[in-house]
Amino acid sequence: MEPKLVLTGFMGTGKSRVGQLAAARLGWPFIDSDAEITARTGKPIHDIFADHGETYFRQLERAVIAELAMRMQPLVIAAGGGALTDEANFRALENAGILVCLSARPKIIAERVAKSSDPRPKLLEGGKPLDERITELLSERAASYGRVSITIDTSDITLEQAAERVITAFSARRERRCEPSA
Ligand code: S3P
Repeated sequence: MEPKLVLTGFMGTGKSRVGQLAAARLGWPFIDSDAEITARTGKPIHDIFADHGETYFRQLERAVIAELAMRMQPLVIAAGGGALTDEANFRALENAGILVCLSARPKIIAERVAKSSDPRPKLLEGGKPLDERITELLSERAASYGRVSITIDTSDITLEQAAERVITAFSARRERRCEPSA
C-alpha cells in the first residue's frame, strides 16, 4: 500500500492549495479534511464552531481523519491546522503515510488569512489583534508541529515551488521506507 501524503501545519501555510498541486503531480486524489466535514454536514467550518462549538468540530474532524487514514487508496490529505494537536489524529495520520508540515512566518500567515474569505474561528478567540493571536496559537502548537520531521517554509516561495519541495521530500522519504532493512 502506497503511503499517503499528509499535509499539516498552521492556518494560512498553504496546505490545501499546495496539496491540490501535489496531488495533480502525483495523479492522486486530494481530500481536505475541512472540505470533507463541510460536505458531510452541509455547513461551513465557522458555522459548525458557532452553532455547536469546537468540541463538536473536533469530534467530526477526528472521525473524518480516522476514515481518510484507513482508505485503501493512494491519497493526498490536507488536515486542518488544529488536527495534529489531537494524539489520535497524529497516530492515524502517521500510520497512514508521510507527514509534511507547512510553515510560514506569523506576519505572512496574518496577510494570507486576512485576504482569505474563509473565517478562522480559532483566530477570533479572545478578540486579540491578528498578529498577536497567531503568535500565541503558534507557540501553543509548536510541540505538535515539531513532531513532524519534514517542514517546508512557504513564506517566500510560490505554491508551485512549495508543491515541488513537498513532492521531493515525500518521494525521498517514500523510497527510504521501501528499502529492505539490512
Ligand atoms: C483550525 C484550522 C482550520 C479549520 C478550523 C480550525 C485550527 O483549517 O480546521 O477553523 O484549529 O487551526 P485550516 O488550517 O485549513 O485553515
